[in-house]
Amino acid sequence: MGTPLTIAELKARARRRVPKMFFDYADSGAWTEGTYKANEADFAAIKLRQRVLVDMTNRSLQSTMIGETVSMPVALAPTGLTGMQHADGEILAAQAAEAFGVPFTLSTMSICSIEDVAAHTTKPFWFQLYVMKDRTFVASLISRAKAAGCSALVLTLDLQILGQRHKDIRNGLSAPPKFTPKHVWQVATRPFWAWEMTQTKRHSFGNIVGHAKGVGDLSSLSSWTAEQFDPRLSWSDVAWIKEQWGGKLILKGIMDPEDARRAADTGADAIIVSNHGGRQLDGAPSSISVLPEIVQAVGDSIEVHLDGGIRSGQDVMKALCLGAKGTYIGRPFLYGLGAYGKRGVTMALDIIRKELDITMALCGKRDIREAGPDLLHHRLPVVEAEPARPSQ
Ligand SMILES: Cc1cc2nc3c(=O)[nH]c(=O)nc-3n(C[C@H](O)[C@H](O)[C@H](O)COP(=O)(O)O)c2cc1C
Repeated sequence: MGTPLTIAELKARARRRVPKMFFDYADSGAWTEGTYKANEADFAAIKLRQRVLVDMTNRSLQSTMIGETVSMPVALAPTGLTGMQHADGEILAAQAAEAFGVPFTLSTMSICSIEDVAAHTTKPFWFQLYVMKDRTFVASLISRAKAAGCSALVLTLDLQILGQRHKDIRNGLSAPPKFTPKHVWQVATRPFWAWEMTQTKRHSFGNIVGHAKGVGDLSSLSSWTAEQFDPRLSWSDVAWIKEQWGGKLILKGIMDPEDARRAADTGADAIIVSNHGGRQLDGAPSSISVLPEIVQAVGDSIEVHLDGGIRSGQDVMKALCLGAKGTYIGRPFLYGLGAYGKRGVTMALDIIRKELDITMALCGKRDIREAGPDLLHHRLPVVEAEPARPSQ
């Protein structure tokens, strides 16, 4: 295969490089995967307005997200177990994002720890927080993110309990993988992945193992979430976390205008319109389809970001046109990482950057900050008229 030109090609390559249980962990949604599929499919239905004879020189994709300058408004979303797509995956993805000039968000459920990533990067990254019942541990995670110089806290609101992904159960997903014949076979048939894994010590949940009370070994993500994540999480906890953190706060997982207004009332800096990439409530609408009503509900009171289903720069453009100030990619960068390590994350970002740039130009704009609803084509598809019947 030549150099990948699309995110789909990176995905095909990752499928051949990454053991099945970890590839499937990325490429799966809850239950029927209907929401996962809708996230991608609904972008295709949105059409762009083609303009001609507009000066296309000196184009700029630079923008800001929560006041931080970004080379394009596309951040890397927090993803658990990223260090299982590729050895030291979080460090490599953070370095790629830093060089590219876009934010990297480290998941609570990462393999490389906050300190690991801070030690291998030079600019601040963002930290995503899951709230556990043990508030002392939550407070310690927040302090560690502060000490590491993280410039934003992304608080995930849509995972108080875990949605079910059939593939993970069937695959017996764990980190590190178990030593059953099935798992040994999956690893043995991915020799490059396996060899790279032998070169790192980071094989389990770096933020948790050795930090949370009584957790020495944490192979099962699902049993940990079931036992530790707080199903009682409420809006008053958001206020407590905001106070503990004291910096830029982003609330992730908003899909409803009423929740969006409540989120804006907390004084947070941004919300992410997100259904967790279709991994939580299957049957929820796609995130792009609810973006307009959420933008309308909050107006200018809070910055609105979006994730879910972005597979190209065109999708980024469409989200910006519908009112998002910034976007995030989850699976696209994971596929790049699984396929080619750090170089693959850069490839994913580069593919999206090129597509966004050309799309913007062909829509007649030179500055991405000018993206708005006027760049979308609103007319309905033309229905072919029935041929006239010959007169009798
Ligand atoms: C493999 C995987 C792991 C994820 N882990 C987390 C996580 O630890 N914390 C979180 O807030 N969101 C997590 N998400 C959701 C992403 O942050 C993001 O909402 C989603 O991936 C966006 O959809 P996309 O993958 O279609 O771009 C995860 C998503 C994937 C695919």
